[in-house]
Amino acid sequence: MAMWIGPARPEQRQEVVELWRAAGLTVPHNDPVADFDQARGRDGSDVLVGMLGARLAGAVMVGHDGHRGWLYYLAVAPELRGQGHGRALVAAAEAWLAGHGIRKVQLMVRAGNRAVSGFYARIGYAEAPVTTLAKWLDPPG
Ligand SMILES: CC(C)(COP(=O)(O)OP(=O)(O)OC[C@H]1O[C@@H](n2cnc3c(N)ncnc32)[C@H](O)[C@@H]1OP(=O)(O)O)[C@@H](O)C(=O)NCCC(=O)NCCS
Repeated sequence: MAMWIGPARPEQRQEVVELWRAAGLTVPHNDPVADFDQARGRDGSDVLVGMLGARLAGAVMVGHDGHRGWLYYLAVAPELRGQGHGRALVAAAEAWLAGHGIRKVQLMVRAGNRAVSGFYARIGYAEAPVTTLAKWLDPPG
């Protein structure tokens, strides 16, 4: 069955968050429910879901800051990996960004998740010679 990819509906929030949890993408300092609500259906961002019929197969958060595009929370259900769904989700997110006039896409891989580097290399992503700096404006409680 071909995977349908499109914008998440608000009522898919819990299912998407559970997928992100199952994929090991959630961390104590991020609230994935708030992240879903903040990104979904906005001018500059969205959450895309991949559906196999009624079944949620994968999801990705996509957005841009007017300059660069960013991907977050890419996940495919553990039992559905290795079938091209991750590649298809990234392609859909790239098309979303291109449709918003964005020419370059970036993403961050957590230090403990080196295993995913092979996937990104396979679909055309290369490590960039930059250091990411970060500062909380509203530090997690
Ligand atoms: C990363 C992830 C989304 C990949 O999804 P997937 O559906 O299994 O990937 P695909 O089947 O589309 O793989 C595309 C290609 O990458 C290859 N690939 C996939 N995972 C790989 C890995 N860990 N190392 C090397 N190659 C990999 C596939 O073999 C395939 O190669 P092919 O084009 O020769 O067939 C999935 O493994 C996942 O959800 N991981 C947990 C969450 C995560 O780490 N997300 C990324 C956060 S930055």
